[in-house]
Amino acid sequence: MRITTVQGDITEQEVDAVVNAANSSLMGGGGVDGAIHRRGGPAILDECRALRASRYGDGLPTGQAVATTAGNLPARWVIHTVGPVHSREEDRSALLASCYRESLKVADSLGAATVAFPAISAGIYGWPMDDAARVAVTTVRAASTSVEEVRFVLFGADALAAFERAL
Ligand code: AR6
Repeated sequence: MRITTVQGDITEQEVDAVVNAANSSLMGGGGVDGAIHRRGGPAILDECRALRASRYGDGLPTGQAVATTAGNLPARWVIHTVGPVHSREEDRSALLASCYRESLKVADSLGAATVAFPAISAGIYGWPMDDAARVAVTTVRAASTSVEEVRFVLFGADALAAFERAL
């Protein structure tokens, strides 16, 4: 598997699947989640509503992942995952690793060869960027998957530098 990094907006990536740093409601929010729903259009929220009405009545648990259409985005699918909120009292990095692993499993089930990830949990959920990058890179490297390219799409220069250091 090839691991690449780019500074940019995840909604513009021409990949098979983009990963959304969602929350368990699957009903949208700020950050990556807001951008994906804004640019992808209402078809994504329609499928999210259907998922809440069927498989995820109580919401998508932290560390798990599920796919929907990507609506108007260049990608074919959005893989929604829920990162853990960062805590100083408790090590939640296993849940953050699970987001990457479970998203890659969903990508495999879709047949997605190229997948773009944001820095899950490193925005509104407060994760320090260097640690978020380390967990992301370590987990993706160790994953057993048919995905051919994982692209980390980082919003700012600091985030890009953190991921390059982790790599
Ligand atoms: N493309 C790439 N990266 C982005 C983009 C973008 N368009 N927008 C923000 N980032 P966040 P979280 C960066 O907050 O911490 C939502 O309300 C951002 O700078 O999107 O997992 C959800 O509904 C940061 O480095 O995700 C949840 O409630 C990283 O992406 C909550 O936020 C992740 O920031 C999830 O918080």
